[in-house]
Amino acid sequence: MTGRQRFLAAAQMKPVDTTPVWFMRQAGRSLPEYRALRERHDFMTVATTPELAARATLMPIDRLGVDAAVLFADIMLPLACMGVPFEIRPGVGPVIATPIRSAADIERLSLVPAREATPYVLEALRLTKDALGERAALLGFAGAPFTLACYLIEGRPAREFPRAKALMYGQPELWHRLMERLTAVTVDYLQAQIAAGADAVQLFDSWLGLLDPVSHAAMVLPYTRRIFAEIAPLVPAIHFSTGTASLLGEIASSGCAAVSVDWRLPLDRAWERLGPDVAIQGNLDPALVLAPWLAVEAGVGDVLERAGGRAGHIFNLGHGVLPQSDPDTLARIVRLVHGEA
Ligand code: CP3
Repeated sequence: MTGRQRFLAAAQMKPVDTTPVWFMRQAGRSLPEYRALRERHDFMTVATTPELAARATLMPIDRLGVDAAVLFADIMLPLACMGVPFEIRPGVGPVIATPIRSAADIERLSLVPAREATPYVLEALRLTKDALGERAALLGFAGAPFTLACYLIEGRPAREFPRAKALMYGQPELWHRLMERLTAVTVDYLQAQIAAGADAVQLFDSWLGLLDPVSHAAMVLPYTRRIFAEIAPLVPAIHFSTGTASLLGEIASSGCAAVSVDWRLPLDRAWERLGPDVAIQGNLDPALVLAPWLAVEAGVGDVLERAGGRAGHIFNLGHGVLPQSDPDTLARIVRLVHGEA
């Protein structure tokens, strides 16, 4: 099988010749060739210049031998569709000068189609697809409405996003209005990426672990379901979150093809909670990549053993590659998962 076929088969719970593998955040962070590119251009320049974004997307493909290429972009880019200026502050993360906290703020949000607001993302996908061929599946992605709402309301990264959660609990009507807007933007943004060549998409709900199951079911799940209802007929969709062991049953019911799980539950126990109808992605602890090879090898072996060769496992880390990871270790993990080492 080609890498692309292998990834897409696993995402659809079909048999594979060997387990497909890729790493979240494989495109930036640990690669020296990415660091060299970043010395010449700042992050937003790379993300909004199709030739540079495509180059960064392709870097890990040859170097690591992964079965999927994740577009070099950021979850904040579709804020351009809503007319919300933001900056990505190095070492801090996304910062929004005028956070969205009132009915008037929400009414002011525009809904510009992705084709107009973020044409560079779509062109980067087309360029990457041409260069990639069958070597690897091309993954588009978006931030989920809950995680985007956290940044929009809070204005900057925070440990618990207290302002965002207070608005959700205290002004549910406003919350739902904002989630409606974000859902519409996200569906359009993902559909545009699929039309531009994305073979599959991942929805990053990075901060979902802040919620209890009851709030998740009332305040987030209906929107997640709506997104996957629009995307599932087109391509396989992966749901990503961390710290959500108590939400896995509901996440599995959201209509995605696969659920990305972190390392806080062993893979077999996470899959039990998800049930038999959904594929699973994960779930090596990213910190384990920094340990001596014997420990890495044992950890990879444990994940594969718990997957038990069942159809529908995509090997990945439980969260993004840590910046201090050695690319040679990542490449060696790929060979081990593929049964070549
Ligand atoms: O493999 C890849 O790197 C693909 C591209 C990608 C980026 N961000 C590039 C990026 C992806 C998939 C993301 C997703 C993303 N962005 C998430 C969800 C994933 C997760 O980790 O939970 C989140 C929460 C963001 C928001 C964001 N953007 C943060 C927290 C940061 C880090 C800020 C910092 O400097 O510490 C960013 C910036 C960012 N996005 C970088 C990269 C490569 C670093 C910027 C740089 O190169 O200097």
